[in-house]
Amino acid sequence: MHVIKTVKAMQALSRTFRSSGRTIGFVPTMGSLHEGHMSLLRRSTEENDVTIVSIFINPTQFGPGEDFNRYPKDHKGDMEKISTLPVEAVFLPDVSEMYPKGFSTFIYVGGIGNILCGASRPDHFNGVATIVTKLFNSVAPDRAYFGQKDLQQAVVIKKLVQELNFDTEIVLCPIVRESDGLAMSSRNSYLSDEERKSAIILNKALQYGKALIMSGKEGDISSVKGKIAAFLASDPLVRIDYIELVHPESLEQVDTINGTVAICLAVNIGKTRLIDNTIINNG
Ligand code: PAF
Repeated sequence: MHVIKTVKAMQALSRTFRSSGRTIGFVPTMGSLHEGHMSLLRRSTEENDVTIVSIFINPTQFGPGEDFNRYPKDHKGDMEKISTLPVEAVFLPDVSEMYPKGFSTFIYVGGIGNILCGASRPDHFNGVATIVTKLFNSVAPDRAYFGQKDLQQAVVIKKLVQELNFDTEIVLCPIVRESDGLAMSSRNSYLSDEERKSAIILNKALQYGKALIMSGKEGDISSVKGKIAAFLASDPLVRIDYIELVHPESLEQVDTINGTVAICLAVNIGKTRLIDNTIINNG
C-alpha cells in the first residue's frame, strides 16, 4: 500500500493507474475511521480496480470555536483498518501541502450551502467544496463515495461535480448505525456516558417522524415537525438546531408529505453537535 504525502506524487500515482486502464474509487475522510467509513471503502473496492483513501482534517470547513483542534485522530488505528482491505493508496497530505502560505482561492457554494447545517455553520460547505475539489484534482477518481449521514454534504458535492464539470461519479452509501441506532460518527467519541445514552434519541425521533408520515394521518408538515421537536425536547440534554423535511436530492423544503421526503435533524448534546436523517418514500 502506497502512503502518499504530496499532491504531485498523488497525481503521478493516479496517472499510472489510469494509464494502465484501471478505474479509481476514492473515499475522502478526516480519519478516525469507523464502520461507516469502512462500508464506503468496501463498496469502492468492490466497484473499482483501485481504491484510494485520503485522511486530512480540513481546517477550512471548521468555523471559529468549532472542534478543529480537538477533532479525534487515530493514525495507527486508521492504518490498521485500511490494511484489512485491498486499498492501493492512502493520501495523507499535511495542512501546508493543501493550503500553502498565501492560499486564497476558494469555492463558494451558494444556495444549498447556506441552509440546514450551512445556516449555523457559515463557510462550512465552502471549505468542504474547496478541499473536495483539491482532493479530486489530486486523485482524479472515476467514482467517489460519501455517506448518507452527511446528506447535505453529498448533495453539495453532487452539485459541485455537475456544475464544475468533474468527471467523477458520486456514490451515496447508506448510514451505518450502532446496535442501538446511533448513526456512526467520529464525533460520537466526544460524548460522555450520559450524553451517549441521550444521543439515541436522534434515530428514535427519525423513526417517530417516519411513523407519523407513513400513518397517513398527518397532512401537515409543521405538525410533523412540531411533534418531532416535542419528542426531542423530552430529553433535557438535547438542544435542537433544526428539524427540516426536505427533498433528498434538491434539499428544497417539501410542502406535502406525499412522495420522497428526507427528515433531517441537527442537535447539540453538551458540546457535541450531531446530525442524522432518514429518507422516506411515501407514495
Ligand atoms: O465527510 C468528511 O469527512 C469531510 O467533510 C470530507 C468530505 C472528507 C472533506 O473534508
